[in-house]
Amino acid sequence: MIDGKVVVPPIKCQGIKTKLVPFIMQHIDRNEEGLWIEPFVGTGVVAFNVKPERALLVDKNQYIIKLYQGIQNGTITSKVVREFLEYHGALLEKRGAEYYIEMRNAFNDNGLPLYFLFLNRSDFNGMIRFNRSGKFNVPFCQKPNRFQKAYVTKICNQVEKVGEIIRGRDWTFKHGTWQDAFNDATEDDYIYLDPPYIGRDTSYVGEWSEDDAVSLANYAHKTTANVCLSMWRENEFRKNEHLYNFWSDFSWYDCEHFYHIGAKESNRHPMIEVLAIKK
Ligand SMILES: C[S@@+](CC[C@H](N)C(=O)[O-])C[C@H]1O[C@@H](n2cnc3c(N)ncnc32)[C@H](O)[C@@H]1O
Repeated sequence: MIDGKVVVPPIKCQGIKTKLVPFIMQHIDRNEEGLWIEPFVGTGVVAFNVKPERALLVDKNQYIIKLYQGIQNGTITSKVVREFLEYHGALLEKRGAEYYIEMRNAFNDNGLPLYFLFLNRSDFNGMIRFNRSGKFNVPFCQKPNRFQKAYVTKICNQVEKVGEIIRGRDWTFKHGTWQDAFNDATEDDYIYLDPPYIGRDTSYVGEWSEDDAVSLANYAHKTTANVCLSMWRENEFRKNEHLYNFWSDFSWYDCEHFYHIGAKESNRHPMIEVLAIKK
């Protein structure tokens, strides 16, 4: 955070922790010399706010990783992003959904991070979802004039901001599996875990099974590093049995937040999220 303000990254995803950043930061107590490790870095919003000097940031989504590597090595700047979004945004305005699909097909052939950014910021709800063959398949947000000047400027400022944070530090972005991130962790390091939620966010790259969740709990218990897990605990309909079964020896800190189904105030639903931290 900068002056109490949360740094917001240029990409979005399901389960993004922007709203929970102050709560997470309040509970993290780490050795500043150690390595900050995120095996499920997603949009990077937690790292961008914690701002560790040294970090290993891993994700199975190679496009997120390529985007941040590009920002890190200076090939993707706010100027490059502006030119790309203005050019393709104008064509989107002219041709609407048909152009979105053309960009999506192009991305599914070329895998380029700027195309990924374009799709992520003009698709339905900023979702990230791939089909079984690894093809991005989120529909259009249905707003042809999506990339208006103010919106492009906002995205460019986000690229600029995260660029300043990344370039001033010793950070490694790595495309890989979460297990890779655990390999060299030592007792001085801090691992922040934000895995897909079992039974809730199954639309990420591949699936997240009960077996994966159990295996992650085993790694988290075996490593000598400090570990903090973000997980939902319960809503009005059900409890997360997995959390009670595999993480009950960690210290739990609760945070209640609300999500909406539709626009009505009566459709406001509470959800309890926890941080489970190794004792
Ligand atoms: C809940 S999101 C993380 C959100 C992130 N903390 C944020 O606020 O943006 C989970 C992430 O795990 C990644 N992921 C899913 N399965 C994975 C795996 N087997 N190995 C590494 N990353 C994986 C997804 O691509 C996704 O970015």
